[in-house]
Amino acid sequence: MKRLNFIKQFALGGSILLTAPVVFSSCSSNDDDMKAPEDDDMDNSGDITIDLSSNAFSALGTVGGFAYKNNIIVIRSAESSYIALSKLCTHSQCTVTYSHANGNLPCPCHGSIFSTSGNVLNGPASTNLKQYSVKKEGNTLTIT
Ligand code: FES
Repeated sequence: MKRLNFIKQFALGGSILLTAPVVFSSCSSNDDDMKAPEDDDMDNSGDITIDLSSNAFSALGTVGGFAYKNNIIVIRSAESSYIALSKLCTHSQCTVTYSHANGNLPCPCHGSIFSTSGNVLNGPASTNLKQYSVKKEGNTLTIT
């Protein structure tokens, strides 16, 4: 009986060891979801660039317009001024929008509001949005 019990326990332990990696790997995040904004569409220096002449960014042709690039929201805040912030709400990672009328970035999921410098104005978020610097040269914005 002892030998039989040992074999049963050994078999059970072995099956747990064999299935554990599958279970744990299925719990891990998709690497694409976890990419930092700097991971995609970088130039050789690691900066993110936006071609303002592209139709994808036509909203940036108007003051108050905004567009997304990777995990960044880019806002045309004034005639020659742009703002770049993480687009991921620090509460639960929903995508924030921009309200030009209110001059802030509301999150549609649970009501957090951020200033145009990324500071939390209203919770439940408690951490500011990351801010990036933006340079414009010709029709190209460079976000670092
Ligand atoms: S995800 Fe933005 S407030 Fe909850």
